[in-house]
Amino acid sequence: MTADEMKQAVALAALELVKPMLDKDAIIGIGTGSTANHFIDALKPYAGDFAGAVASSDASAERLRAVGVDVVELNSAGTLPVYVDGADEFDPHFNLIKGGGAALTREKIVAAASQTFICIVDGSKQVGVLGEFPLPIEVIPMARSLVARELVKLGGDPVYREGVVTDNGNVILDVHNLSIVDPKGLEAKINNLPGVVCNGLFALRGADQVLMGTPNGVESLIAK
Ligand code: 5RP
Repeated sequence: MTADEMKQAVALAALELVKPMLDKDAIIGIGTGSTANHFIDALKPYAGDFAGAVASSDASAERLRAVGVDVVELNSAGTLPVYVDGADEFDPHFNLIKGGGAALTREKIVAAASQTFICIVDGSKQVGVLGEFPLPIEVIPMARSLVARELVKLGGDPVYREGVVTDNGNVILDVHNLSIVDPKGLEAKINNLPGVVCNGLFALRGADQVLMGTPNGVESLIAK
């Protein structure tokens, strides 16, 4: 089984969990990335059965419209019953690193607006301690160097993601060489740096459920 086949399998497993929620008033939250794309594609036969979706990126919004799902502004949607999205890493407590696709800020907003966050991943994303995947930070462009210096003080090695502008018009720093033993503390600390819009640690609001694709099928994991 390829990684992409595992991503498709977890997307289909997530659909089975979400299907009972899809009634005419339901608005669901949708993430960004190749795994979320499989979930969006799987929604196609059900597009007429629910009110719509809040997307965490322009790319996901476009893909949702292409399969016939109405895209709704979060401000008109209220609290969402469920958010389905991938991750770059998850730990045993379901703390996540996200933002490999540069959509972390809107992802964090939609996750915060949702009652349940179902995280869909292939097995390569499972780690004991977060930080092998460089931590993405969305930064206001004029603060890039200032924030980078502060991140070095926190023990990281920030690298500017050249050529990438987020949907919000900002830039991304990817922080290498962090061993994240206190994800909630580090998330709060980085949030406090002037110029930081958002960081890719999803620990203060992590996932509620992780579906992981393996060569032997999809595992529904229990948080430790
Ligand atoms: C985008 C994300 C994605 O969820 C993350 O990068 C995982 O992507 P993929 O499903 O393609 O492996 O956080 O900002």
